[in-house]
Amino acid sequence: MSRARITIDRDFTVAEVPRRIFGSFVEHMGRCVYTGIYEPGHPRADERGFRRDVMDLVKELGATVVRYPGGNFVSGYNWEDGVGPVADRPRRLDGAWHTLETNAFGLHEFVDWSREAGVEVMEAVNLGSRGVDAARELVEYANIPSGTRLSDLRRKNGHEDPFNIKLWCLGNEMDGPWQIGHKTAEEYGRLAQEAAKAMRFVDPDIELVACGSSNSGMPTFGAWEQTVLTHTYEQVDYVSLHAYYQEHDGDAGSFLASAVDMDYFIESVIATADAVRAKGKHKKHINLSFDEWNVWYTRPGDADSPEEVGKHGWREHPRVIEDKYNVTDAVVVGTFLNSLLRHGDRVKIANQAQLVNVIAPILSEENGPAWKQTIFHPFARMAELAHGQVLRLAVDSDKYSNAKFGDTDLVDVSATWNEETGRMALFLANRGLEEAAGVEVVLRGFDARQVIRADVLRVPDGADRFLINTQENPDAVGLTPLEGVKAAGGEVRATLPALSWTAIELEVVRS
Ligand code: AHR
Repeated sequence: MSRARITIDRDFTVAEVPRRIFGSFVEHMGRCVYTGIYEPGHPRADERGFRRDVMDLVKELGATVVRYPGGNFVSGYNWEDGVGPVADRPRRLDGAWHTLETNAFGLHEFVDWSREAGVEVMEAVNLGSRGVDAARELVEYANIPSGTRLSDLRRKNGHEDPFNIKLWCLGNEMDGPWQIGHKTAEEYGRLAQEAAKAMRFVDPDIELVACGSSNSGMPTFGAWEQTVLTHTYEQVDYVSLHAYYQEHDGDAGSFLASAVDMDYFIESVIATADAVRAKGKHKKHINLSFDEWNVWYTRPGDADSPEEVGKHGWREHPRVIEDKYNVTDAVVVGTFLNSLLRHGDRVKIANQAQLVNVIAPILSEENGPAWKQTIFHPFARMAELAHGQVLRLAVDSDKYSNAKFGDTDLVDVSATWNEETGRMALFLANRGLEEAAGVEVVLRGFDARQVIRADVLRVPDGADRFLINTQENPDAVGLTPLEGVKAAGGEVRATLPALSWTAIELEVVRS
Protein backbone atom coordinates (compact mmCIF):
# COMPACT_ATOMS: atom_id res chain seq x y z
CA MET A 1 0.00 0.00 0.00
CA SER A 2 1.27 3.50 -0.79
CA ARG A 3 1.13 6.31 1.81
CA ALA A 4 0.18 9.98 1.82
CA ARG A 5 0.24 12.48 4.66
CA ILE A 6 -1.76 15.67 4.24
CA THR A 7 -1.53 18.57 6.68
CA ILE A 8 -4.28 21.17 6.90
CA ASP A 9 -4.10 24.31 9.01
CA ARG A 10 -7.24 26.35 9.67
CA ASP A 11 -5.33 29.62 9.19
CA PHE A 12 -3.99 28.68 5.77
CA THR A 13 -6.65 29.24 3.15
CA VAL A 14 -6.43 29.90 -0.60
CA ALA A 15 -9.65 31.80 -1.29
CA GLU A 16 -13.37 31.59 -0.95
CA VAL A 17 -14.58 28.70 -3.13
CA PRO A 18 -15.24 30.34 -6.51
CA ARG A 19 -18.56 28.67 -7.18
CA ARG A 20 -18.35 29.59 -10.86
CA ILE A 21 -15.65 26.93 -11.31
CA PHE A 22 -18.47 24.40 -11.39
CA GLY A 23 -19.49 25.69 -14.79
CA SER A 24 -20.48 23.84 -17.93
CA PHE A 25 -20.84 24.57 -21.62
CA VAL A 26 -23.67 24.29 -24.15
CA GLU A 27 -22.56 24.74 -27.75
CA HIS A 28 -24.61 24.44 -30.91
CA MET A 29 -22.55 21.41 -31.77
CA GLY A 30 -23.60 17.85 -32.51
CA ARG A 31 -26.44 16.85 -30.21
CA CYS A 32 -25.72 19.12 -27.25
CA VAL A 33 -28.68 21.44 -27.92
CA TYR A 34 -30.89 19.47 -30.34
CA THR A 35 -31.89 16.10 -28.81
CA GLY A 36 -29.72 17.05 -25.80
CA ILE A 37 -31.26 19.81 -23.71
CA TYR A 38 -33.97 20.54 -26.32
CA GLU A 39 -36.18 18.06 -28.13
CA PRO A 40 -39.77 19.07 -28.79
CA GLY A 41 -41.86 15.95 -29.16
CA HIS A 42 -39.76 13.88 -26.77
CA PRO A 43 -42.05 12.11 -24.27
CA ARG A 44 -40.32 13.95 -21.40
CA ALA A 45 -40.20 17.39 -23.09
CA ASP A 46 -42.13 20.29 -21.57
CA GLU A 47 -44.22 22.74 -23.59
CA ARG A 48 -41.06 24.66 -24.53
CA GLY A 49 -39.31 21.56 -25.81
CA PHE A 50 -36.89 21.31 -22.86
CA ARG A 51 -36.19 17.72 -21.96
CA ARG A 52 -37.17 17.25 -18.33
CA ASP A 53 -35.12 14.08 -17.93
CA VAL A 54 -32.00 15.98 -19.01
CA MET A 55 -33.01 18.99 -16.90
CA ASP A 56 -33.24 16.77 -13.80
CA LEU A 57 -29.74 15.46 -14.44
CA VAL A 58 -28.39 18.98 -15.03
CA LYS A 59 -29.81 20.03 -11.67
CA GLU A 60 -28.28 16.99 -10.00
CA LEU A 61 -24.93 17.79 -11.65
CA GLY A 62 -25.03 21.14 -9.88
CA ALA A 63 -23.49 23.28 -12.60
CA THR A 64 -23.47 26.94 -11.58
CA VAL A 65 -22.84 28.76 -14.86
CA VAL A 66 -23.20 27.65 -18.49
CA ARG A 67 -21.27 29.11 -21.42
CA TYR A 68 -23.23 29.51 -24.67
CA PRO A 69 -23.54 29.29 -27.75
CA GLY A 70 -19.94 28.23 -28.54
CA GLY A 71 -17.14 27.35 -28.96
CA ASN A 72 -16.10 27.38 -32.59
CA PHE A 73 -19.77 27.73 -33.52
CA VAL A 74 -19.96 31.29 -32.21
CA SER A 75 -17.35 32.56 -34.65
CA GLY A 76 -19.78 32.21 -37.55
CA TYR A 77 -23.02 32.85 -35.65
CA ASN A 78 -25.45 35.73 -36.07
CA TRP A 79 -27.22 36.11 -32.74
CA GLU A 80 -30.12 37.79 -34.56
CA ASP A 81 -30.88 34.46 -36.31
CA GLY A 82 -31.85 32.94 -32.97
CA VAL A 83 -34.44 35.51 -31.83
CA GLY A 84 -37.99 36.29 -32.94
CA PRO A 85 -40.69 33.91 -34.18
CA VAL A 86 -39.15 30.47 -34.76
CA ALA A 87 -40.93 30.11 -38.11
CA ASP A 88 -39.09 33.20 -39.40
CA ARG A 89 -35.63 32.12 -38.28
CA PRO A 90 -33.19 31.24 -41.07
CA ARG A 91 -31.66 27.84 -41.64
CA ARG A 92 -27.92 28.33 -41.93
CA LEU A 93 -24.77 26.39 -42.67
CA ASP A 94 -22.55 26.13 -39.62
CA GLY A 95 -19.05 25.91 -41.05
CA ALA A 96 -17.41 25.16 -37.71
CA TRP A 97 -19.05 21.72 -37.37
CA HIS A 98 -20.35 21.22 -40.90
CA THR A 99 -23.92 21.18 -39.66
CA LEU A 100 -27.26 22.56 -40.74
CA GLU A 101 -28.40 24.96 -38.03
CA THR A 102 -32.19 25.45 -37.85
CA ASN A 103 -32.02 28.22 -35.22
CA ALA A 104 -35.09 26.73 -33.54
CA PHE A 105 -33.18 27.25 -30.30
CA GLY A 106 -31.63 30.64 -29.61
CA LEU A 107 -30.99 33.24 -26.94
CA HIS A 108 -34.50 33.45 -25.46
CA GLU A 109 -34.76 29.69 -25.24
CA PHE A 110 -31.33 29.45 -23.62
CA VAL A 111 -32.12 32.12 -21.04
CA ASP A 112 -35.41 30.37 -20.19
CA TRP A 113 -33.66 27.02 -19.98
CA SER A 114 -30.91 28.49 -17.74
CA ARG A 115 -33.44 30.01 -15.36
CA GLU A 116 -35.19 26.69 -15.04
CA ALA A 117 -31.85 24.91 -14.52
CA GLY A 118 -30.78 27.50 -11.94
CA VAL A 119 -27.56 28.39 -13.77
CA GLU A 120 -25.98 31.70 -14.68
CA VAL A 121 -25.66 32.52 -18.39
CA MET A 122 -22.16 33.10 -19.80
CA GLU A 123 -22.66 34.46 -23.29
CA ALA A 124 -20.03 34.52 -26.03
CA VAL A 125 -20.03 37.16 -28.77
CA ASN A 126 -18.85 36.53 -32.31
CA LEU A 127 -15.48 38.19 -32.93
CA GLY A 128 -14.73 35.90 -35.87
CA SER A 129 -17.07 36.78 -38.72
CA ARG A 130 -18.67 39.74 -36.86
CA GLY A 131 -17.26 42.40 -34.58
CA VAL A 132 -17.80 45.45 -32.37
CA ASP A 133 -21.25 46.35 -33.67
CA ALA A 134 -22.87 42.93 -33.31
CA ALA A 135 -21.33 42.58 -29.85
CA ARG A 136 -22.60 45.88 -28.48
CA GLU A 137 -26.01 45.33 -30.08
CA LEU A 138 -26.33 41.97 -28.40
CA VAL A 139 -25.60 43.57 -25.00
CA GLU A 140 -28.24 46.19 -25.71
CA TYR A 141 -30.76 43.53 -26.73
CA ALA A 142 -30.04 41.45 -23.64
CA ASN A 143 -29.46 43.95 -20.85
CA ILE A 144 -31.20 47.28 -21.51
CA PRO A 145 -34.67 47.32 -19.89
CA SER A 146 -36.57 49.20 -22.63
CA GLY A 147 -36.84 52.31 -24.76
CA THR A 148 -34.33 51.48 -27.51
CA ARG A 149 -34.79 49.64 -30.78
CA LEU A 150 -33.13 46.45 -29.61
CA SER A 151 -34.41 46.35 -26.04
CA ASP A 152 -37.94 46.89 -27.36
CA LEU A 153 -37.37 44.13 -29.89
CA ARG A 154 -36.50 41.77 -27.01
CA ARG A 155 -39.73 42.78 -25.28
CA LYS A 156 -41.68 42.22 -28.48
CA ASN A 157 -40.02 38.82 -28.75
CA GLY A 158 -41.46 37.81 -25.41
CA HIS A 159 -39.07 38.92 -22.64
CA GLU A 160 -40.33 42.07 -20.96
CA ASP A 161 -37.51 42.08 -18.42
CA PRO A 162 -33.87 42.31 -19.45
CA PHE A 163 -31.81 39.13 -19.35
CA ASN A 164 -29.15 40.88 -17.26
CA ILE A 165 -26.33 38.71 -18.53
CA LYS A 166 -23.23 39.58 -16.56
CA LEU A 167 -20.56 37.31 -17.98
CA TRP A 168 -19.41 37.72 -21.59
CA CYS A 169 -16.71 35.98 -23.63
CA LEU A 170 -15.00 38.10 -26.28
CA GLY A 171 -15.00 35.47 -29.02
CA ASN A 172 -13.61 31.95 -28.92
CA GLU A 173 -10.12 30.49 -29.57
CA MET A 174 -9.20 33.33 -31.89
CA ASP A 175 -5.57 32.11 -32.04
CA GLY A 176 -6.62 28.87 -33.79
CA PRO A 177 -6.20 28.63 -37.58
CA TRP A 178 -9.39 26.47 -37.60
CA GLN A 179 -11.43 29.36 -36.24
CA ILE A 180 -13.72 31.31 -38.57
CA GLY A 181 -12.11 34.77 -38.59
CA HIS A 182 -8.84 33.56 -37.02
CA LYS A 183 -6.65 36.48 -36.02
CA THR A 184 -3.14 37.32 -34.97
CA ALA A 185 -2.67 38.38 -31.34
CA GLU A 186 -2.35 42.01 -32.44
CA GLU A 187 -5.51 41.89 -34.52
CA TYR A 188 -7.50 40.11 -31.85
CA GLY A 189 -6.12 42.20 -28.99
CA ARG A 190 -7.21 45.45 -30.65
CA LEU A 191 -10.61 44.06 -31.67
CA ALA A 192 -11.28 42.65 -28.20
CA GLN A 193 -10.29 45.96 -26.64
CA GLU A 194 -12.69 47.90 -28.86
CA ALA A 195 -15.52 45.38 -28.51
CA ALA A 196 -15.09 45.42 -24.72
CA LYS A 197 -15.19 49.21 -24.66
CA ALA A 198 -18.32 49.37 -26.79
CA MET A 199 -20.06 46.62 -24.80
CA ARG A 200 -19.25 48.42 -21.53
CA PHE A 201 -20.62 51.68 -22.93
CA VAL A 202 -23.95 49.85 -23.18
CA ASP A 203 -23.71 48.09 -19.81
CA PRO A 204 -20.85 49.10 -17.48
CA ASP A 205 -21.59 46.26 -15.07
CA ILE A 206 -20.68 43.34 -17.32
CA GLU A 207 -17.65 41.10 -16.76
CA LEU A 208 -15.49 40.28 -19.77
CA VAL A 209 -13.30 37.34 -20.71
CA ALA A 210 -10.56 37.79 -23.31
CA CYS A 211 -9.48 34.76 -25.34
CA GLY A 212 -6.24 33.21 -24.20
CA SER A 213 -4.62 30.40 -26.18
CA SER A 214 -6.66 27.45 -27.44
CA ASN A 215 -4.30 25.21 -25.53
CA SER A 216 -0.86 25.41 -24.00
CA GLY A 217 0.65 23.53 -26.96
CA MET A 218 -0.12 26.35 -29.40
CA PRO A 219 3.07 27.79 -30.93
CA THR A 220 1.99 31.26 -29.82
CA PHE A 221 1.12 30.25 -26.22
CA GLY A 222 2.45 32.85 -23.79
CA ALA A 223 3.19 35.46 -26.43
CA TRP A 224 -0.51 35.47 -27.37
CA GLU A 225 -1.62 36.15 -23.79
CA GLN A 226 1.03 38.82 -23.39
CA THR A 227 -0.01 40.74 -26.53
CA VAL A 228 -3.75 40.34 -26.01
CA LEU A 229 -3.57 41.44 -22.37
CA THR A 230 -1.30 44.34 -23.21
CA HIS A 231 -4.13 45.69 -25.38
CA THR A 232 -7.08 44.71 -23.21
CA TYR A 233 -5.77 44.84 -19.63
CA GLU A 234 -7.95 47.70 -18.44
CA GLN A 235 -11.02 46.54 -20.38
CA VAL A 236 -11.26 42.86 -19.36
CA ASP A 237 -11.55 40.90 -16.12
CA TYR A 238 -10.46 37.41 -17.17
CA VAL A 239 -8.32 35.60 -19.70
CA SER A 240 -9.48 32.20 -20.92
CA LEU A 241 -7.74 28.82 -20.88
CA HIS A 242 -8.80 25.68 -22.75
CA ALA A 243 -7.39 22.18 -22.31
CA TYR A 244 -8.41 18.66 -23.28
CA TYR A 245 -6.59 15.50 -22.29
CA GLN A 246 -6.74 11.86 -23.29
CA GLU A 247 -5.01 8.55 -22.68
CA HIS A 248 -2.51 7.86 -25.44
CA ASP A 249 -1.42 4.34 -26.42
CA GLY A 250 -2.47 2.77 -23.13
CA ASP A 251 -0.19 5.06 -21.10
CA ALA A 252 -2.54 5.31 -18.12
CA GLY A 253 0.22 6.56 -15.81
CA SER A 254 0.78 9.73 -17.82
CA PHE A 255 -2.93 10.25 -18.41
CA LEU A 256 -3.66 10.00 -14.69
CA ALA A 257 -1.05 12.71 -14.08
CA SER A 258 -2.66 15.16 -16.56
CA ALA A 259 -3.61 17.57 -13.79
CA VAL A 260 0.12 18.25 -13.37
CA ASP A 261 -0.06 19.84 -16.81
CA MET A 262 -3.23 21.71 -15.85
CA ASP A 263 -1.44 23.11 -12.76
CA TYR A 264 1.47 24.18 -14.94
CA PHE A 265 -0.80 25.74 -17.55
CA ILE A 266 -2.71 27.74 -14.91
CA GLU A 267 0.47 28.90 -13.21
CA SER A 268 2.02 29.94 -16.55
CA VAL A 269 -1.02 32.08 -17.47
CA ILE A 270 -1.04 33.68 -14.01
CA ALA A 271 2.66 34.53 -14.41
CA THR A 272 2.07 36.01 -17.88
CA ALA A 273 -0.92 38.08 -16.77
CA ASP A 274 1.02 39.36 -13.77
CA ALA A 275 4.01 40.26 -15.95
CA VAL A 276 1.71 42.40 -18.12
CA ARG A 277 0.33 43.94 -14.94
CA ALA A 278 3.82 44.90 -13.78
CA LYS A 279 4.93 46.24 -17.14
CA GLY A 280 1.77 48.29 -17.60
CA LYS A 281 1.77 49.50 -13.99
CA HIS A 282 -1.79 48.26 -13.62
CA LYS A 283 -3.45 47.92 -10.23
CA LYS A 284 -5.99 45.15 -10.68
CA HIS A 285 -5.27 41.49 -11.34
CA ILE A 286 -6.60 39.62 -14.36
CA ASN A 287 -8.20 36.38 -13.21
CA LEU A 288 -8.56 33.13 -15.12
CA SER A 289 -11.58 31.63 -16.83
CA PHE A 290 -10.81 27.98 -17.63
CA ASP A 291 -13.82 27.92 -19.88
CA GLU A 292 -13.20 24.64 -21.69
CA TRP A 293 -11.68 21.59 -20.04
CA ASN A 294 -12.30 17.87 -20.09
CA VAL A 295 -11.15 14.49 -21.34
CA TRP A 296 -11.58 14.30 -25.12
CA TYR A 297 -10.51 11.32 -27.21
CA THR A 298 -9.55 12.65 -30.63
CA ARG A 299 -9.91 9.67 -32.97
CA PRO A 300 -9.95 11.02 -36.54
CA GLY A 301 -11.33 7.78 -38.09
CA ASP A 302 -14.39 7.53 -35.83
CA ALA A 303 -17.81 8.11 -37.39
CA ASP A 304 -18.52 10.91 -34.90
CA SER A 305 -15.16 12.66 -35.39
CA PRO A 306 -15.46 16.14 -36.93
CA GLU A 307 -13.42 14.95 -39.93
CA GLU A 308 -15.84 12.09 -40.73
CA VAL A 309 -18.96 14.18 -40.00
CA GLY A 310 -17.71 16.70 -42.55
CA LYS A 311 -17.77 14.02 -45.27
CA HIS A 312 -21.51 13.44 -45.02
CA GLY A 313 -23.03 16.68 -46.25
CA TRP A 314 -25.00 19.20 -44.27
CA ARG A 315 -27.14 17.46 -41.65
CA GLU A 316 -29.07 18.65 -38.61
CA HIS A 317 -27.50 17.75 -35.27
CA PRO A 318 -25.31 14.81 -36.33
CA ARG A 319 -23.49 12.86 -33.64
CA VAL A 320 -20.17 14.64 -33.03
CA ILE A 321 -17.53 13.50 -30.50
CA GLU A 322 -19.88 11.58 -28.22
CA ASP A 323 -17.12 10.17 -26.05
CA LYS A 324 -17.99 7.39 -23.59
CA TYR A 325 -16.14 7.84 -20.31
CA ASN A 326 -14.70 5.06 -18.19
CA VAL A 327 -13.48 4.75 -14.59
CA THR A 328 -10.01 6.12 -15.40
CA ASP A 329 -11.54 9.19 -17.06
CA ALA A 330 -13.66 9.88 -13.96
CA VAL A 331 -10.59 9.75 -11.69
CA VAL A 332 -8.76 12.15 -14.03
CA VAL A 333 -11.74 14.53 -14.07
CA GLY A 334 -11.65 14.49 -10.25
CA THR A 335 -7.99 15.59 -10.37
CA PHE A 336 -8.84 18.41 -12.82
CA LEU A 337 -11.43 19.72 -10.39
CA ASN A 338 -8.83 19.49 -7.62
CA SER A 339 -6.42 21.55 -9.70
CA LEU A 340 -9.06 24.22 -10.40
CA LEU A 341 -10.05 24.39 -6.74
CA ARG A 342 -6.44 24.58 -5.51
CA HIS A 343 -5.98 27.62 -7.78
CA GLY A 344 -9.21 29.23 -6.59
CA ASP A 345 -7.41 32.48 -5.77
CA ARG A 346 -7.02 33.13 -9.51
CA VAL A 347 -9.19 30.64 -11.39
CA LYS A 348 -12.61 32.17 -10.81
CA ILE A 349 -14.57 30.54 -13.64
CA ALA A 350 -14.29 27.09 -15.22
CA ASN A 351 -16.54 25.25 -17.62
CA GLN A 352 -16.43 21.56 -18.26
CA ALA A 353 -16.95 21.06 -21.98
CA GLN A 354 -19.64 20.19 -22.72
CA LEU A 355 -22.91 19.47 -20.88
CA VAL A 356 -24.84 16.88 -22.91
CA ASN A 357 -23.77 14.31 -25.55
CA VAL A 358 -20.72 16.20 -26.86
CA ILE A 359 -17.77 15.15 -24.60
CA ALA A 360 -20.27 15.39 -21.78
CA PRO A 361 -21.18 14.09 -18.32
CA ILE A 362 -24.75 13.46 -19.53
CA LEU A 363 -25.82 11.34 -22.51
CA SER A 364 -29.27 11.33 -24.07
CA GLU A 365 -30.87 9.45 -26.93
CA GLU A 366 -33.32 10.98 -29.36
CA ASN A 367 -36.77 9.86 -28.25
CA GLY A 368 -34.99 7.76 -25.62
CA PRO A 369 -33.50 8.00 -22.15
CA ALA A 370 -30.81 10.17 -20.59
CA TRP A 371 -28.17 8.93 -18.18
CA LYS A 372 -25.02 9.85 -16.27
CA GLN A 373 -21.53 9.14 -17.55
CA THR A 374 -18.81 8.16 -15.06
CA ILE A 375 -17.40 11.70 -15.07
CA PHE A 376 -20.74 13.04 -13.82
CA HIS A 377 -20.04 11.76 -10.32
CA PRO A 378 -16.90 13.64 -9.20
CA PHE A 379 -18.28 16.85 -10.69
CA ALA A 380 -21.68 16.54 -8.99
CA ARG A 381 -20.28 15.63 -5.60
CA MET A 382 -17.68 18.40 -5.64
CA ALA A 383 -20.23 20.97 -6.80
CA GLU A 384 -22.41 19.87 -3.91
CA LEU A 385 -19.77 19.86 -1.16
CA ALA A 386 -17.23 22.56 -2.05
CA HIS A 387 -18.37 25.61 -0.11
CA GLY A 388 -16.69 28.15 2.12
CA GLN A 389 -12.91 28.37 1.95
CA VAL A 390 -10.46 26.44 -0.20
CA LEU A 391 -7.83 25.13 2.22
CA ARG A 392 -4.11 25.26 1.51
CA LEU A 393 -2.59 21.79 1.82
CA ALA A 394 0.82 20.39 2.57
CA VAL A 395 0.92 17.05 0.79
CA ASP A 396 3.60 14.42 1.30
CA SER A 397 2.61 11.56 -0.98
CA ASP A 398 4.44 8.52 -2.29
CA LYS A 399 5.14 8.97 -5.96
CA TYR A 400 5.06 6.94 -9.17
CA SER A 401 6.98 7.52 -12.33
CA ASN A 402 5.29 8.18 -15.66
CA ALA A 403 6.58 8.96 -19.13
CA LYS A 404 5.20 12.49 -19.44
CA PHE A 405 5.54 14.02 -16.00
CA GLY A 406 8.22 11.97 -14.24
CA ASP A 407 7.64 11.48 -10.52
CA THR A 408 4.05 12.35 -9.65
CA ASP A 409 2.10 12.18 -6.39
CA LEU A 410 0.02 9.03 -6.16
CA VAL A 411 -2.57 10.86 -4.08
CA ASP A 412 -4.04 14.09 -5.44
CA VAL A 413 -6.20 16.17 -3.12
CA SER A 414 -8.13 19.36 -2.53
CA ALA A 415 -10.15 20.45 0.49
CA THR A 416 -12.72 23.02 1.53
CA TRP A 417 -14.11 24.22 4.84
CA ASN A 418 -17.45 25.89 5.38
CA GLU A 419 -17.32 27.64 8.73
CA GLU A 420 -21.06 28.36 8.71
CA THR A 421 -22.10 24.74 8.46
CA GLY A 422 -19.08 23.30 10.25
CA ARG A 423 -18.42 20.98 7.31
CA MET A 424 -15.09 20.11 5.76
CA ALA A 425 -14.80 18.28 2.44
CA LEU A 426 -11.79 16.30 1.24
CA PHE A 427 -11.55 15.28 -2.41
CA LEU A 428 -8.96 12.58 -2.99
CA ALA A 429 -7.80 10.67 -6.05
CA ASN A 430 -5.59 7.60 -5.86
CA ARG A 431 -3.67 7.44 -9.15
CA GLY A 432 -2.16 4.07 -8.27
CA LEU A 433 -3.38 1.49 -10.75
CA GLU A 434 -2.57 -1.50 -8.55
CA GLU A 435 -2.12 -0.32 -4.98
CA ALA A 436 -4.47 1.10 -2.39
CA ALA A 437 -3.30 4.30 -0.67
CA GLY A 438 -3.29 4.82 3.09
CA VAL A 439 -4.06 8.48 3.76
CA GLU A 440 -3.47 10.32 7.02
CA VAL A 441 -4.84 13.86 7.28
CA VAL A 442 -3.45 15.98 10.10
CA LEU A 443 -5.82 18.77 11.13
CA ARG A 444 -4.40 21.83 12.86
CA GLY A 445 -6.90 24.24 14.39
CA PHE A 446 -9.77 21.83 13.76
CA ASP A 447 -11.35 19.07 15.78
CA ALA A 448 -13.00 16.39 13.69
CA ARG A 449 -16.31 15.33 15.22
CA GLN A 450 -17.63 12.78 12.77
CA VAL A 451 -17.58 11.48 9.24
CA ILE A 452 -20.84 12.58 7.66
CA ARG A 453 -20.37 10.82 4.34
CA ALA A 454 -17.52 9.10 2.56
CA ASP A 455 -18.10 7.82 -0.97
CA VAL A 456 -15.77 6.40 -3.56
CA LEU A 457 -15.79 5.89 -7.32
CA ARG A 458 -13.69 2.82 -8.10
CA VAL A 459 -13.41 -0.15 -10.43
CA PRO A 460 -16.30 -2.43 -9.42
CA ASP A 461 -15.44 -6.02 -8.48
CA GLY A 462 -15.01 -8.19 -11.53
CA ALA A 463 -14.68 -5.23 -13.89
CA ASP A 464 -11.73 -3.30 -15.27
CA ARG A 465 -10.79 0.38 -15.48
CA PHE A 466 -12.43 0.71 -18.90
CA LEU A 467 -15.94 0.15 -17.56
CA ILE A 468 -18.46 2.74 -18.79
CA ASN A 469 -22.11 3.53 -18.07
CA THR A 470 -24.46 2.61 -20.90
CA GLN A 471 -28.11 3.07 -21.74
CA GLU A 472 -28.68 -0.55 -20.65
CA ASN A 473 -26.51 -0.29 -17.53
CA PRO A 474 -26.46 3.41 -16.57
CA ASP A 475 -25.25 2.80 -13.01
CA ALA A 476 -22.37 0.43 -13.70
CA VAL A 477 -19.97 3.06 -12.35
CA GLY A 478 -21.01 5.41 -9.57
CA LEU A 479 -20.33 6.40 -6.01
CA THR A 480 -20.50 3.78 -3.26
CA PRO A 481 -19.78 4.16 0.46
CA LEU A 482 -16.11 4.01 1.44
CA GLU A 483 -15.87 1.93 4.59
CA GLY A 484 -13.35 2.44 7.36
CA VAL A 485 -12.87 6.20 7.28
CA LYS A 486 -11.92 7.37 10.80
CA ALA A 487 -12.03 10.96 12.02
CA ALA A 488 -11.33 12.04 15.58
CA GLY A 489 -9.65 15.09 17.07
CA GLY A 490 -6.90 16.29 14.77
CA GLU A 491 -6.70 13.20 12.60
CA VAL A 492 -8.53 11.61 9.68
CA ARG A 493 -7.55 8.24 8.25
CA ALA A 494 -8.77 6.52 5.13
CA THR A 495 -7.70 3.82 2.72
CA LEU A 496 -8.31 4.72 -0.90
CA PRO A 497 -8.78 1.77 -3.27
CA ALA A 498 -6.48 1.50 -6.28
CA LEU A 499 -7.55 3.85 -9.10
CA SER A 500 -10.30 5.68 -7.27
CA TRP A 501 -11.80 9.05 -6.50
CA THR A 502 -13.20 9.75 -3.01
CA ALA A 503 -15.17 12.53 -1.34
CA ILE A 504 -15.16 12.69 2.46
CA GLU A 505 -17.49 15.06 4.26
CA LEU A 506 -16.65 15.77 7.90
CA GLU A 507 -18.16 17.69 10.75
CA VAL A 508 -15.41 19.83 12.31
CA VAL A 509 -15.18 22.50 14.99
CA ARG A 510 -12.44 25.01 15.73
CA SER A 511 -9.93 23.73 18.27
O1 AHR B 1 -15.75 21.91 -27.06
C1 AHR B 1 -15.50 21.58 -28.39
C2 AHR B 1 -14.67 22.60 -29.14
O2 AHR B 1 -13.36 22.60 -28.62
C3 AHR B 1 -15.09 24.04 -29.02
O3 AHR B 1 -16.04 24.40 -29.95
C4 AHR B 1 -13.82 24.78 -29.29
O4 AHR B 1 -13.78 26.03 -28.65
C5 AHR B 1 -12.73 23.85 -28.82
O5 AHR B 1 -11.71 23.72 -29.74
